[in-house]
Amino acid sequence: MTKTYAVIGDSIAHSLSPHIHNAAFKELDLDCTYIAYRIPKEELADGLEGLKKIKIAGFNVTIPHKIAIMKYLDKVDEDCNLIGASNTISNNDGKLIGYNTDMDGFLEPIKKRNLKIEGEDVLLLGAGGAARAIVAGFAKEKVGVITIANRTKDKAVELRQFAQKIGVQTNAISLYEIGNNLSSYKFIVNATSIGLKNESTPLPTETINQNTVVYDIVYMPLNTDLIKKAKEKRATVIYGYEMLLGQAVRAFEIWHGIKAPYDVMKRTILGGF
Ligand code: ATR
Repeated sequence: MTKTYAVIGDSIAHSLSPHIHNAAFKELDLDCTYIAYRIPKEELADGLEGLKKIKIAGFNVTIPHKIAIMKYLDKVDEDCNLIGASNTISNNDGKLIGYNTDMDGFLEPIKKRNLKIEGEDVLLLGAGGAARAIVAGFAKEKVGVITIANRTKDKAVELRQFAQKIGVQTNAISLYEIGNNLSSYKFIVNATSIGLKNESTPLPTETINQNTVVYDIVYMPLNTDLIKKAKEKRATVIYGYEMLLGQAVRAFEIWHGIKAPYDVMKRTILGGF
């Protein structure tokens, strides 16, 4: 019987995940299919019942359900537990097992470039589910101080409490308190959805330089305003698609227990732009 996989979230219409996984299934001749299923924020419980009814084999979780999904899971892995959010679920005969592939998916492109994280300072925009996984990833690599800047300052303060628990030094500020000089940050990471609608970055980019690493987790468009400005300053840039690819490869390997066809998945993402 064909196995069905899905990504759930809202909005989901522009998700590349169905393309990536379906391309991988085709490449390896697997009898599987992957669909996008929109579940509005307040309909998660009903949506999950629907998924169980069609005997979903596994699914990815995106905005706005990554944290809310946790209470519906029967078992979670270590990273999920640490981060308090899940983006990859397996369905074992009606039992939902949660994983989090965001953290390692985030770190992979940094490691691939042999960039040092230990002791380096970070400016992190955003304080949602993705930002949480990023804080946990940086913590694992013994980062210096992370300055968390968020539109809603209370959420930055909340994320700061989480960071303290896992032993990372942080400051929590609002987007309006960032100041004009970014040269003390080795890493500048956008973990908000700013850029998705082609908006300009709220960051003052004048002091970004060739020693800065600018990582935008927004992958659509490929060249966000922040990425464009960082390139003009000759910073090292890391594209959002790289994190998307990293987490998709890991999700594939969790579900299928075989090595993911990395190149095909990468080509599919880049072909989608
Ligand atoms: P994710 O799982 O991708 O992290 P999320 O938990 O909904 O999604 O978090 C979205 C992040 O983007 C939040 O930090 C949010 O800021 P608020 O906490 O103030 O809501 C941020 N964000 C989204 N749209 C934004 C905008 N237009 N300007 C500034 N920040 C924005």
